[in-house]
Amino acid sequence: MSVHLSDSLLAVLSRATRAVAFTGAGISAESGVPTFRGADGLWNKLKPEELASMDAFMKNPALVWEWYVHRKTIMAAIVPNEGHRALVRMERHFAEFAVVTQNIDNLHRRAGSTRVMELHGNIERNYCMQCGKACPDVAVVTDRGIPTCPACGGRIRPDVVWFGEMLPDDEWEAAVRATERAEIFFSIGTSGVVYPAASLPLMARQAGAYVVEINPDPTPLTPRADEFLRGPAGMLLPAICEELEQCRQKRGR
Ligand code: OAD
Repeated sequence: MSVHLSDSLLAVLSRATRAVAFTGAGISAESGVPTFRGADGLWNKLKPEELASMDAFMKNPALVWEWYVHRKTIMAAIVPNEGHRALVRMERHFAEFAVVTQNIDNLHRRAGSTRVMELHGNIERNYCMQCGKACPDVAVVTDRGIPTCPACGGRIRPDVVWFGEMLPDDEWEAAVRATERAEIFFSIGTSGVVYPAASLPLMARQAGAYVVEINPDPTPLTPRADEFLRGPAGMLLPAICEELEQCRQKRGR
């Protein structure tokens, strides 16, 4: 599939050595993971404060776990799509390439991206709230539906960032460093309304990167991006990748 890319984007693609792909739920939509906002968004049907916050967990851990077990099951059954795979191909053409994701579905790593910063955690991991030990196996569920730590008996929680919680320091700092170094920054499949993650595209722009947004619908970032490519990531990213590969081949001749 060929997509028309502007001359300025092609020029940046042919010379850039450092890039960041910042992703949100939209990149996984074509794998069958529901997004959060929009007509069919999860947060239209469910209340985040009742399912994705420490308060909710303290009030009703069994309900929160039921929801996460349900999401874990969905996410274990899906596979990366063309969009995830295009980012793996893209990585080979830059000296520095980072995927900074808000997604917890692990699809970038499963696709083969090697440098992934997970700002909101990873649903495949869990840890004990009492001793901090990682606990991958939540099959250890009590009859009340709450997994407990085999080492200390404390409550286990999913290793995801809930509303009102800080982002993991190391992931955030690495994401900011990569963003500030990027010459080209792709914002892909995110509504750009959840902070601090949503500040990254603007940070990139301020640091001099060429900011490209990929989304079927405009977002608050659209008027501030250098380029808005309208459409699904699973179609646009492979097309950009092809152009990138052609630019690099021409330069190598
Ligand atoms: P949203 O659900 O807010 O936004 C998804 C975006 O993807 C929308 O702008 C859609 O238009 C776009 N989209 C849909 N299909 C697409 C496709 N095929 N290709 C490209 N884009 C597509 O999801 P996020 O921006 O990721 O936080 O939400 C940010 C955070 O809000 C999440 O990480 C989560 C949520 O509450 C936490 O859980 C902490």
